[in-house]
Amino acid sequence: MDAWIERPELAQLIATRVAQRPVVVLTGIRQVGKRALLRHLFPSHRYLTLDLPSLAEAAEAHRISC
Ligand SMILES: Nc1ncnc2c1ncn2[C@@H]1O[C@H](COP(=O)(O)OP(=O)(O)OP(=O)(O)O)[C@@H](O)[C@H]1O
Ligand SMILES: [Mg+2]
Repeated sequence: MDAWIERPELAQLIATRVAQRPVVVLTGIRQVGKRALLRHLFPSHRYLTLDLPSLAEAAEAHRISC
């Protein structure tokens, strides 16, 4: 497994925003580590990917809760 690269400035910014807002959007180009960083920062949070069309449809229809 490759070594984990720490991103302290981003981690701090996300922690600040999460404390301020009910929803925070993290966007960026492909494969830069968005999901990995969020999973690292919030290991006990539920994780859902809407990459799966069936889950995206369920979310739109309010059939899943977070
Ligand atoms: N901080 C990190 N240190 C080392 N490797 C990392 C780090 N963050 C991500 N990676 C690796 O980079 C790859 C892409 O990570 P990830 O899936 O989190 O990116 P993403 O931005 O969510 O991608 P996509 O845009 O395709 O959804 C994975 O193989 C992951 O293990
Ligand atoms: Mg991703």
